[in-house]
Amino acid sequence: MTAQFSKKSEAWSARFSEPVSDLVKRYTASVFFDKRLAEVDIQGSLAHAQMLAQQQIISGEDLSAIRGGLQQIGNEIAEGSFEWLLDLEDVHLNIEKRLTELVGDAGKRLHTGRSRNDQVATDIRLYLRGAIDELTILLGDLRLALVDLAEQHADTILPGFTHMQVAQPVTFGHHLLAYVEMFGRDTERLADCRKRVNRLPLGAAALAGTTFPIDRELVAQLLGFDEVCFNSLDAVSDRDFAIEFCAAAALVMTHISRMSEELVIWMSPRVGFIDIADRFCTGSSIMPQKKNPDVPELARGKTGRVTGHLMCLLTLMKGQPLAYNKDNQEDKEPLFDTVDTLTDTLRIFADMARGITVKPAAMRAAALQGYATATDLADYLVKKGLPFRDAHEAVAHAVRCCVDKECDLADLTLEQLKAFSPLIEEDIYAVLTLEGSVAARDHVGGTAPRQVRLAIARVRAQLAR
Ligand code: ARG
Repeated sequence: MTAQFSKKSEAWSARFSEPVSDLVKRYTASVFFDKRLAEVDIQGSLAHAQMLAQQQIISGEDLSAIRGGLQQIGNEIAEGSFEWLLDLEDVHLNIEKRLTELVGDAGKRLHTGRSRNDQVATDIRLYLRGAIDELTILLGDLRLALVDLAEQHADTILPGFTHMQVAQPVTFGHHLLAYVEMFGRDTERLADCRKRVNRLPLGAAALAGTTFPIDRELVAQLLGFDEVCFNSLDAVSDRDFAIEFCAAAALVMTHISRMSEELVIWMSPRVGFIDIADRFCTGSSIMPQKKNPDVPELARGKTGRVTGHLMCLLTLMKGQPLAYNKDNQEDKEPLFDTVDTLTDTLRIFADMARGITVKPAAMRAAALQGYATATDLADYLVKKGLPFRDAHEAVAHAVRCCVDKECDLADLTLEQLKAFSPLIEEDIYAVLTLEGSVAARDHVGGTAPRQVRLAIARVRAQLAR
């Protein structure tokens, strides 16, 4: 027991007269999840040591020793031979202890002018910056997969819905491009969040700064930060950048979830608009006929946990007085899980989008039911001079008549149609076709195939940047 105590308490041993219990040790330790910060922790230490040497706070020999030791630790971690000790609490103390084992006093000098408080804040920012860059690429790839599918289906028509009721015909390309827009805004949000992530806490030390003549700009530059955090108390304590990231992530998942909901509906045999490749589906252990869209369903489910992580971080932060409090150690697992969930989900969705088979005939058949071109008939009457409200009324009567006859508007004879308005002529039949309906919505943001192709070109140009 005392042997373990002396290990654990090396960083602050003299102050304490009894060891913590094993339970407390386990409760307060973070090494089993924060060891994933090891790489950025070493990066941060290398930059800090270089600055210390440049400012003549440590010697050139110490810097070389530290570099050699950290290099070796990096290798040990990469090859799995590094021994992580719960007794050493977290990633920072584990690495520092090993460094001291390897290079002696130079290792003990590394922590000069630094605290784990500014160290961990720096690590999370470096980690998150990398994660944002990777997620940005994955979002781009998903958008590309959707744009490719949209291009193949710029002319494919399906019913557009409001209130889940057939509303007006739309092109499938247009429908897919709605998600491309959502994921485009998600990308913008991540880029904006990155600006506030990319600031350097190091130099804030425990909370008040340090008495050593440090050069924070140099460290910022070495680590690729845009600037330093300008208040030491704020630098070590706030995790708003992580909260902001989780909010952006929750929106990405919300969009994924909306899309998942549609994929599930479209794949239901009752609807049958698409099929999803077998490799993204599973069967049932009891019902041999089943092919279930597990991937979109799970993604819809995982949205809950990502939204939950956002709530978790907001709640974690809200009661904290300045400056650092141990509460903040709880920021990591939700953050890591958010990144992992998003990474896997975006990757699998891009693959899955490339494995969707579209069934245009089923889409068309559905669009032909439900009077999807009723608005076109009303617009036609308006263009012939009837006020819109009167046109709306006339068409409502026509639809009512079709419901009774169990036929479509286009199935009525010209004579029957004229009964609802004498303004209706032979040219109405072109208007009542699905193709005529979508082609007529030919303005920026409209569903016409021509506009879909223009929108695709615009997104492709964006993605190529
Ligand atoms: N493991 C800690 C964290 O994640 C590192 C900082 C600890 N600082 C301290 N004063 N106990 O926040």
